[in-house]
Amino acid sequence: MENKPITVTSPLLPSLEEFTTILQDIWNRKWLTNNGFYHQELEKALAEYLGVEFISLFTNGTLPLITALQTMRITGEVITTPYSFVATTHSIWWNGLTPVFVDVDSATGNLDPTKIEQAITPKTTAIMPVHVYGNPCDTAAIQEIADRYGLAVIYDAAHAFNVKQNNKTILNAGDMSTLSFHATKTYNTIEGGALICQDARTKKRIDYLKNFGFAGETTVVAPGINSKMDEVRAAYGLCNLKNINAAIEARQKVAMKYREVLKNSSGIKMFKENPNVTYNYSYFPIFVDEKEYGMSRDALYEKFKQHNILGRRYFYPLISTFGVYRGLPSSNPVNLPMATKMANEVICLPMHHGLSDEDVQRVTDCIAK
Ligand SMILES: Cc1ncc(COP(=O)(O)O)c(C=O)c1O
Repeated sequence: MENKPITVTSPLLPSLEEFTTILQDIWNRKWLTNNGFYHQELEKALAEYLGVEFISLFTNGTLPLITALQTMRITGEVITTPYSFVATTHSIWWNGLTPVFVDVDSATGNLDPTKIEQAITPKTTAIMPVHVYGNPCDTAAIQEIADRYGLAVIYDAAHAFNVKQNNKTILNAGDMSTLSFHATKTYNTIEGGALICQDARTKKRIDYLKNFGFAGETTVVAPGINSKMDEVRAAYGLCNLKNINAAIEARQKVAMKYREVLKNSSGIKMFKENPNVTYNYSYFPIFVDEKEYGMSRDALYEKFKQHNILGRRYFYPLISTFGVYRGLPSSNPVNLPMATKMANEVICLPMHHGLSDEDVQRVTDCIAK
């Protein structure tokens, strides 16, 4: 058993029987993409499930970021976090904009609102924070700054599917939020994503932009892109929505077991849970303090591998250290001490709905010994 690999994640799959029945229906309908029946059904179902009014489906979680910036006609500089997946910053770059990195806070790993103001210049037009690991950003503080300086706020909520604060979704914060439904995410449509906005006019513009800018059969209103979700993935997503509550509950149990054991491990730090937040348990990051733990993060990561446990150094390296971005003034590590420390100490432990008690035990034993 010791050699059975424990992967960092495992995709949530819908019932094959149910999915096959729906595939038959798609075959009968002969409508494969372009706002088909299942696309419309999934938009409705997700809006209701997530507690949002306006949601547009996409082919992945990167194109909604790119499209959000286009929709709001963002120019100049965008303040963002280096402690994320590269797609966050790439979306800014793909729009010909300049990312400006601001450090994160140690309690959540998210943009530190107290550091945002000093990064604002006359060219700043937007803030793109990330609810990293599904930890909610300080949305009130960010909005206060955005309102004072007249900035747009676009949340990369790729990790925050159905995360709530005080029983309310966090996906209505700011002007827009994006989701990723990639196979590795808590909820997946294999590849997929969504863009959430706050009014019908904006949704209309988003829907034009994700369909080449077509506003009718012969009218193109903007240089749009093709990022429509097809019927097969939308149907898969509808089936998977039935499993999501059970999957999140299973993840919560894994998180509780990790917490129970690791709270006594000296040199292993975890985020504190906020009692006002309903989490989706998308990741379980730990931070290894080399001096206190007696072993470096990388050594523990290699030790995991020897025991066939596949953790992930997520997010390492920092986005600001990659070739395209490291020349930016805001990429200087002196500007980003907390993000740099976290990137050097983090390992995401295996976290998915299919982990058994024995799997969790193997991981925690490996950390303890
Ligand atoms: C924070 C973040 N933003 C954006 C993305 C991009 O999503 P996708 O892979 O669906 O394009 C991901 C994940 O992959 C992510 O983790």
